[in-house]
Amino acid sequence: MKNTPKRYTVTAALPYANGGIHLGHLAGAYLPADIYVRYRRLKGDDVIFVCGSDEHGVPITLGARKEGITPQAFVDKYHLLMKNSFEEFGISFNIYSRTSNKIHHETAQEFFLNLYKKNDFIEETSLQFYDEQEKTYLADRYIQGTCPNCSYEKAYGDQCERCGTSLSPKDLINPVSALSGKSPVLKETKHWFLPLQKYESWLREWILEGHKDDWKSNVYGQCKSWLDQGLQPRAMTRDLDWGVKVPLPDSEGKVLYVWFDAPIGYISATKEYFEKESKSGNRKADDWKLYWQDKDTELIHFIGKDNIVFHCIIFPAILHAHGEYILPGNVPANEFLNLEGEKLSTSRNWAVWLHEYLADFPGRQDELRFVLGSILPEAKDSDFSWRDYQARINNELVAILGNFVNRTMVLTRNYFNSKVPPRHELNTIDLECIQQLETISSKIGACIEQFRFRDALVELMNLARTGNKYLAENEPWKVINTDKARVETVLNLSLEITAALAVLSNPFIPGAAENMMKMLQLDPLKWNAVTGKPIFKEGHQLGESALLFKKVEDAEIEKQLEKLQATRQPVMVNAVDGNNKNEPAGNSKSEITYDDFAKLEFRVGTIVTAEKVKKADKLLQLKINLGTETRTIVSGIAEHYAPENIIGQQVCVVANLAPRKIKGIESKGMILMAEDASGKLKFVMPSEKVDDGSSVS
Ligand code: MF3
Ligand code: ZN
Repeated sequence: MKNTPKRYTVTAALPYANGGIHLGHLAGAYLPADIYVRYRRLKGDDVIFVCGSDEHGVPITLGARKEGITPQAFVDKYHLLMKNSFEEFGISFNIYSRTSNKIHHETAQEFFLNLYKKNDFIEETSLQFYDEQEKTYLADRYIQGTCPNCSYEKAYGDQCERCGTSLSPKDLINPVSALSGKSPVLKETKHWFLPLQKYESWLREWILEGHKDDWKSNVYGQCKSWLDQGLQPRAMTRDLDWGVKVPLPDSEGKVLYVWFDAPIGYISATKEYFEKESKSGNRKADDWKLYWQDKDTELIHFIGKDNIVFHCIIFPAILHAHGEYILPGNVPANEFLNLEGEKLSTSRNWAVWLHEYLADFPGRQDELRFVLGSILPEAKDSDFSWRDYQARINNELVAILGNFVNRTMVLTRNYFNSKVPPRHELNTIDLECIQQLETISSKIGACIEQFRFRDALVELMNLARTGNKYLAENEPWKVINTDKARVETVLNLSLEITAALAVLSNPFIPGAAENMMKMLQLDPLKWNAVTGKPIFKEGHQLGESALLFKKVEDAEIEKQLEKLQATRQPVMVNAVDGNNKNEPAGNSKSEITYDDFAKLEFRVGTIVTAEKVKKADKLLQLKINLGTETRTIVSGIAEHYAPENIIGQQVCVVANLAPRKIKGIESKGMILMAEDASGKLKFVMPSEKVDDGSSVS
């Protein structure tokens, strides 16, 4: 009987092209998706893995404004950054596309028109805030005002970041436009709403009854709570000049809501992929339909928890309304990853950026994959810390896995010229070992299929532990003097374990897995090769062995910890970020005593030289005359001031801050900056020129 492979469409959330990829992104969606996909491919299943940059919506227009460039230039820059770092990190997308592509605009418009023609939208005219000076309607995030709940004056039109209340712009007291600072007026505008309440009972049945047992409890729980609150119509269009144009007459200045178009990006990316494949004759362009419209295909969305409602309720309602598409079989959303015990924050730059990791730790992708894989926030938020990173690599990857593989290779080289020795009669220890191999490999597969990647990784390490224990119990280095045949059997089995490790570790640490295959001189083996039955033929010639992992030194970790602190942005006012869903509410630091304050020494100084720091877009290296001395200070202001424009500028400096190395430069002190609502930084300085070195209190 012919076994047709099962077909899977796997997606990972399209990241907004408004910054880089950080460890929180990786742990939330991309790494688990990649582990899953690599596993499926290894099993011989038919998988397509799609992703791309989400280039529309307010996070993009706000970001572009903040950097003073066009939205297109802005997304071009970040799309490339993200695409490159995913590629270098080894996330094995079949395609990494982008939503500013023509094929995407067409696909999203077609989708919208399909629903429009079926009368699935409600057309409604409502009053919306409008900025008369900038001649534009204002997205919720572009409106600031006083929170009706806690009186915080910088609450946004969609949420107060101090008390966390979710708001609508009309709730704000004294609303002002973040674009012009003026009070906006209310003006009529027409939009198309998806009547989500119409799909409520269908959604209840599909999710609450259909996926009670197979969806993760965090996902199921969030869906249930949304459904229990009752669904409301939701506008699928926006007044904005950046995005996919609404494909209807008289809809000038209107675009599709980003959460309407972005998930359709998964479909457009698939189309684009098969179009390319068809050009090289591999597949037919129309094959994308198999992956989106054939009911034998399993669709799986990997996302972070802030995307659950969009992937489990809104997008499925859209797909259902269209009628020709399959629905997600599972949406294994992860919780959030914290960093050194604090919430990740992009506006405060409390994050580890993938492109920086890749530059600081070249060739050490697997190490990061292993650590993140071990701490994935699968059931609850988890924490990444550099000390833990070091400990996991040194104590597990190096001491357990690397050590076992290396000992097996070296012993085989020394005793048998790197040829696989024969297997003789097996004793109970041997049989147990084979049994373990079989059990563990099936456990790993089962865990991955249930999206329990952490447990799978624990099992993988257990297999390496089994190997170490087997060597320790059999002591081939002693037995070799008395019973060579026994050593042949022991190393034969140890090599079988090594081969199994090479296959089973592939989804988690693909680079090391490939190195193991090379050392063992094995051609690509499928997952099902690991059955406990021999993989090697007697006499098989092994290759050269090399150490799989190297230890992480204290100095490397200290450097990272210093860098985190040094590049951390103090937040004086809340930056308009538009994408800070993962960040704590408010800028409230805890109260300090007068004595705490008195510890700070502020001084006025004049910038005497300023230059860009190499390989750091945000940093300037400054020399500042503080009267009695000239200080070097590295400051994250390169995006706000050109070096040549600030020579002679007086600034306020925190003078008694402990020195830190930033990009190899010792920085002594910090410059006080004021940050406005749009995220622009300005120097804080005395109202008139004073002597350099003057103290500030
Ligand atoms: N850009 C969104 C975010 O970063 C995710 C979009 S996922 C998609 O939160 F389904 F819309 F593509
Ligand atoms: Zn509030």
